[in-house]
Amino acid sequence: MSPRTHSVVEPVVDRAEDHNRSVNASPIFTLFDVVETEQLTREHILQVAAGTVGAVVIRDFSSADVAADIMESIQTSAPLGHYDEALIWPQIAKLGPAAYDCYAAGELDEAYWETARQAVAMRSTLMYGSDPLDFAFGRVAEAWGDAVIPARSRGSEMFAGMIREIHSGAKIHFDEIVREFPGVLDETPASFVTMNWFLSTTESGGETTVYRHRWRPLDEAHRDGYGYDPIVVDGELSATALARPGDAMIFDSRNLHSVAPVSGSGRRVTLSYFLGIAGHGPLLSWS
Ligand SMILES: [Fe+2]
Repeated sequence: MSPRTHSVVEPVVDRAEDHNRSVNASPIFTLFDVVETEQLTREHILQVAAGTVGAVVIRDFSSADVAADIMESIQTSAPLGHYDEALIWPQIAKLGPAAYDCYAAGELDEAYWETARQAVAMRSTLMYGSDPLDFAFGRVAEAWGDAVIPARSRGSEMFAGMIREIHSGAKIHFDEIVREFPGVLDETPASFVTMNWFLSTTESGGETTVYRHRWRPLDEAHRDGYGYDPIVVDGELSATALARPGDAMIFDSRNLHSVAPVSGSGRRVTLSYFLGIAGHGPLLSWS
């Protein structure tokens, strides 16, 4: 699927006839495109959260030069560890803990907080002596029109901003903390967006594919480790996107998604975090 391009002023929703999938006179629109933009907006975030866009690729979220400089710093001063191999195979390298690491334990354990402290210390100087997460949060806050702040678990600020390298691909899976780890967040977000800022990409491969399919209990019959057999998304609509260094991508990680193995030279490294849409402000009503 080739990305559709929308400028800032154009509406993200395209009501073109070819999106109308209804079998009678009452229209129903598919709305699962990849939107490509140079300027992330609040509306993009809301569209992903609402499920009316498959993924948004933000071109030049940072410059490619900034991304390359951070990569150089990672290579010299921030060695990547990896997920527990018993949970994630093929191996995925990372700096910083994921709440996922603690799903089996049922709590954010001491190892989580210690790994978080170490990762923040290592990450804090990677972008010209400052923390690249501050930049990444700043860009999103600017689009959102309000602050981006860490979620809390039992009153403590959770870690965000893992640096992750995927080489051999990621299986079809979903991430939905409130379903996989109930109670860990002090406040339930109304919706989710996952953000990947690409610090480095490869010559070929490494595409992200998002399927218009949320986890269903019946999918468990087709589970292999953390991932699912492609049969569960057979016939589903999907959105596939490829980023360049400095780009960012947002999508709803409750939808099943996968990453293709990389090929050719280069590394696929992202700074990644989830964004919960908090339930504050007025409620909007209509009939
Ligand atoms: Fe994921």
